[in-house]
Amino acid sequence: MTNKEIANKRIQELRAIIEAAQKQYYLADDPTMSDAQYDKLFRELEALEKQFPELIQANSPTQTVGVSIKQSKKSTAQISFFDNNFPTQSPASSAVSATQFAEVRHREQMLSLANALDFNEFREFDARIKKYLGLNTTPKYWVEYKFDGLAVELVYVDGLLKVASTRGDGFIGENITENIKTIKSIPQKLDFTKIKKNLPQQIEVRGEVLMEIANFQRLNEERLAKGEHVFANPRNAAAGSLRQLDIQITASRELDFYAYDLMSAEPILSTAEDESKEILANLGFKTQGNYWATNDLEEIESYYQQMQTERDVLPFEIDGVVIKVLNFELQNQLGLRARTPRWAIALKFPAREEYTKLLDITVQVGRTGTLTPVAELEPINLGGVTVRRATLHNQDEIDRKDIRIGDIVIVRRQGDVIPAIVGVVKERRTGQEQPFILPDVCPICETQVIRENDADVAWRCPNQYCPARLIERLKHFVSRRAFDIESLGEKILEKLIEKNLLNNASDIFKLTEEDFAQIWKDADKMGKNLVLALEQAKRIDLARFIYALGIRHVGEKTAKVLAGEFRTVQDFLQADFERLIKINEVGEVVAKSVLDFINNEDEIKVVHVLLQNGVQVREVDNFKATQVVGVFSGEVVVLTGNLTSMTREIAKDKIEQAGGVVTNSVSKKTTLLVAGEAAGSKLKKAQELGVKIINEAEFLERLQKMSLS
Ligand code: IVH
Repeated sequence: MTNKEIANKRIQELRAIIEAAQKQYYLADDPTMSDAQYDKLFRELEALEKQFPELIQANSPTQTVGVSIKQSKKSTAQISFFDNNFPTQSPASSAVSATQFAEVRHREQMLSLANALDFNEFREFDARIKKYLGLNTTPKYWVEYKFDGLAVELVYVDGLLKVASTRGDGFIGENITENIKTIKSIPQKLDFTKIKKNLPQQIEVRGEVLMEIANFQRLNEERLAKGEHVFANPRNAAAGSLRQLDIQITASRELDFYAYDLMSAEPILSTAEDESKEILANLGFKTQGNYWATNDLEEIESYYQQMQTERDVLPFEIDGVVIKVLNFELQNQLGLRARTPRWAIALKFPAREEYTKLLDITVQVGRTGTLTPVAELEPINLGGVTVRRATLHNQDEIDRKDIRIGDIVIVRRQGDVIPAIVGVVKERRTGQEQPFILPDVCPICETQVIRENDADVAWRCPNQYCPARLIERLKHFVSRRAFDIESLGEKILEKLIEKNLLNNASDIFKLTEEDFAQIWKDADKMGKNLVLALEQAKRIDLARFIYALGIRHVGEKTAKVLAGEFRTVQDFLQADFERLIKINEVGEVVAKSVLDFINNEDEIKVVHVLLQNGVQVREVDNFKATQVVGVFSGEVVVLTGNLTSMTREIAKDKIEQAGGVVTNSVSKKTTLLVAGEAAGSKLKKAQELGVKIINEAEFLERLQKMSLS
């Protein structure tokens, strides 16, 4: 075969896969691959067509937008072109039928957007713009969210909503007028009172329909409870809810709409994106406030960075920012390509969702004996991090989502949260997948597992001497927020257990240099340092002490509450149900768990041995118990942006030690905002609410005052 023939073969393959993927995405609202995998295939096709332009066909996905709503033939494409061993057989079912909706022809084509996958690709876009326009300097750009929903066009005549449609193939979309009328944030009658100029008789408003994350989660909970198929993400939920023949279903789903484009066959008298957006807002549409115009690339880059953190606190999903040339005159000069405008680009965020193969399910035994199934995955890059494992929570979760070994699963990693499996791509099953059943004995000590009551989802290994539990308990015991002896890492703990030097937490403070010498040949200095670290760790607050004990359901916060109530270890060990349940933050579950602990002879022995071995628990005095006095007393503080001198966690600790309370979001109760670098929407909200704002230097200065006083 000649190179050209090879290229042509691959082009045909890629087209088939991409077209099948598009149908799943646009018509079935149930994608079979991730955005990143799709982009990669799409770019491969673009590159081949660039190399052999004579092979470009007018109906290639690189020349078209979305899918034709008339397509109804079954997809037979083989999804076989991933570098991570995706199945090579045809997907079990990828039949997607034609739309059931009537057709609507768009007056003007609805386009797609070219993608930039990182900021350098945006710089290349900027260079192309300048070259095309013959400019030496960067033109002003308009930057806004890239909403992760579905594009919709609304046609208004004399201020009344006449027709609403999906994008379809860009020329013809689906008539979803009745469905759209159920969305509260879409005005059926425009408000002209704030509009100074006369608008044309017919205008078109384009924007994105989406579902807020909270609604999406609630919807999925309900669907799970009813044993129905869950949506993989809010975008699919929004699309699946909107494209319903029964508009009652759409109405029940609480969708939202954000407008980003205003157009008409006649002049609208606005000359740039910002004006157009203002008119939309005045007409009664939701637009969103976080956009701006600038010709400073640095500023765009920091906005892009900032949005990557802010996306976690937005009520809806964005998957990037859209950057448009601000001025309409320049936009017209730049014009359009076959499927995308030359004047705009979608600068995407690193992915946080990927599709990969579930190779196996293993079982982890936690500190309190809980058995957690863990997904062992074909390694996949997720926003720059290689993900190999993800939590599957518990058997019920696996059953509800019908997750089977061998499945292609959707993995999601958000912020620092442990990656989780959000769903399964059933269309890609081969029939070889194996259901998983949690073993009924502990995989480590083989004790029969138990479920305390039927309502519990978790199975536990009840053997408190189970080696798996021991290592987890010890890790917890030495962790930073407990005894804070982090030099005693997991490897060392494992070795000490192996040598029988460590059978429970109370052994830790008995360890000597000689003991450490047994696990290292060359342990002189290490052993000395570790013994010193142990010596220093012996003095501890009651709250940390209680937390370190690893009582079920007693986290850091509850430990603080208990310490505040009981003040001394002795008093805590005398706790009874009445006294526990009287504490505001303590419910029946916690009370019972605390009693289980203090009624367990072995546990109590550990506590006594700890005290005998020199652990000194600082008692909580009256004054401190109710209120810590310090430079942040009475302050309700929110941290935002990046701090350069310490992590947020440490900053939080310091504020709390100085009497302040730290919360996650800015509200009327907030008294102080500490704004690090690239602070975003929280800063804005604080400004709006008139909350006092200090920068990192001022924050450090305040902390300094504390250490001086
Ligand atoms: S402008 C010709 N602005 O992204 C300009 N689109 O990947 C195209 N989208 O089809 C539309 N947020 O569904 C524009 N702020 C935004 C957007 C946005 C999301 C969607 C839209 C478009 C797709 C292209």
